[in-house]
Amino acid sequence: MVHTAQPPVLLRDVIEDVDEVVALLERNAPYTPLGGWYRPGADEDVATCAMWFQKDWVHADLAVAGSDLFQQCERYHQAARQFCDAQVILPHSLYVNVMVGIDRAGPAHTDNPKFRGRERKNTPMWLLRTMLWSELFRRWEIVQATSIWWLNDVDEGGLLYWDEGPDEPPHRHVGAMANTALLGDNHHMFHQVERVGPFDQGTRLVTQRAELAPADGGGGDWAVVDRGTEVFRAPLDRFRISVLWKADVYETEKECRAVADDTLTFEDVARVFDRDLARRGEKLRFDLEGLEDLAFQEALSAVYPEARPVGAQPSIFDGL
Ligand SMILES: [Fe+2]
Repeated sequence: MVHTAQPPVLLRDVIEDVDEVVALLERNAPYTPLGGWYRPGADEDVATCAMWFQKDWVHADLAVAGSDLFQQCERYHQAARQFCDAQVILPHSLYVNVMVGIDRAGPAHTDNPKFRGRERKNTPMWLLRTMLWSELFRRWEIVQATSIWWLNDVDEGGLLYWDEGPDEPPHRHVGAMANTALLGDNHHMFHQVERVGPFDQGTRLVTQRAELAPADGGGGDWAVVDRGTEVFRAPLDRFRISVLWKADVYETEKECRAVADDTLTFEDVARVFDRDLARRGEKLRFDLEGLEDLAFQEALSAVYPEARPVGAQPSIFDGL
């Protein structure tokens, strides 16, 4: 079953000198709220964003100075080889999440998949996800290993993960998270970030213009400044800081080369779906002109629905 994964591997004492990560964080400040993609058209001057900040450190052509601390982390490479029973581990992404003062969980989700020839840069996300849930495109799916590393222990901020599949209750990594990492298959295993303190004011909201950075005057505090006003300030160790690492995985160099040209065009995608839709006795056919058509998206997604993990907590994004 595609929706289950073997349990992730818990690594402890991952980074030898954690101050190097703090230096990376400082050098790459400021941090801005998680993309407004889930609220297209939202007014930039209205406080609608939770204090959930994110930034890419490695992505496509970008690689910030010092990112090899994670990219070349031998513990990761070793654990990924073992976890995937594979020899070739190609790290391609690194990004950081900073969260504070969020009274509800993040969304329970699997990470966005990619397929040879079809990925985010050339294919709508809804289609990539429907391709994943259909299980019709396993041959082209690029297997990825993900590691999540935590800088410190905060007020709650645990991670739920459904390593026995979405129909079984989740497991939980919480408490003593500092300098641990969970390495696994987050593209097939549901996971969910739990709420993060402080909780005294519920979920504190900021505008999309807010920025998180070391506070003026130093002292180790970090502050959120929203349109010129400091709206939150706390020592760095009060923020839930996680660093995410992703790598493409191939069994062998030979396999990596052998599959490189086996890519999917949109026409291939349509053909594979149509064959399966016909087999299922569905009237629906894949509409290459309808990729932006909400009715078509919903009709196709209804045939291949995304699983809903049991025991997921209510999310700050529910009802948006
Ligand atoms: Fe995720």
